[in-house]
Amino acid sequence: MSDNDLKILGICGSLRKKSFNMAGLRAAGELMPAGMKLEITSIADLPMYNQDVYDAGMPEPVGRFRTEVAQADGVLIASPEYNFAVTPALKNAIDWGSRPPDQVWQDKPIAIFSCTAGPVGGARVQYDLRKILSQIWGLVLPRPEVFIGNSASKFDAELHLTDETTKKFLTDLLVGFKAWIERVRRK
Ligand SMILES: Cc1cc2nc3c(=O)[nH]c(=O)nc-3n(C[C@H](O)[C@H](O)[C@H](O)COP(=O)(O)O)c2cc1C
Repeated sequence: MSDNDLKILGICGSLRKKSFNMAGLRAAGELMPAGMKLEITSIADLPMYNQDVYDAGMPEPVGRFRTEVAQADGVLIASPEYNFAVTPALKNAIDWGSRPPDQVWQDKPIAIFSCTAGPVGGARVQYDLRKILSQIWGLVLPRPEVFIGNSASKFDAELHLTDETTKKFLTDLLVGFKAWIERVRRK
């Protein structure tokens, strides 16, 4: 690792301790191509968005989160799907980041993947996320799309990613993400 590595901020849309998505993010950290470094943040301490709270001044966890996103070269989001949509924790974090001044998603390279218990792998949440993030000028990597369904069969009991095909999909996503960040910077 070097100081010149692209700083990637990992955000998990699930708050539970044994989250497959958090496990997927940790696996992504190990699969990153050379020249990228992943740091995973927490969105568990962000208060529920309330305009009155915003008007009184950004709470400390919100300021911390916004700074982390603003300083990242790219953001890697892993999230489950809740009732065909984005989890409340993730939407809340996106909303806090979207408020002026200097909304933090503007021109930010973003990559997405999702892990779910069932077979579909979060296809619907990804399109929900793309809609939300593009509206606030986030630059979401179009492809490859990575949907990790039947997660219990892809991770072991200690939540290590064991499925080789899934490792290959994640690696392809990260290689594509690195190229996406470099492409965005050239524009
Ligand atoms: C409120 C709620 C709604 C859910 N809705 C969906 C859904 O629409 N589609 C889906 O594939 N899984 C759904 N699930 C199951 C999640 O895929 C599963 O709980 C997954 O493991 C959560 O991710 P995590 O392991 O990172 O916490 C839902 C789970 C919860 C708690």
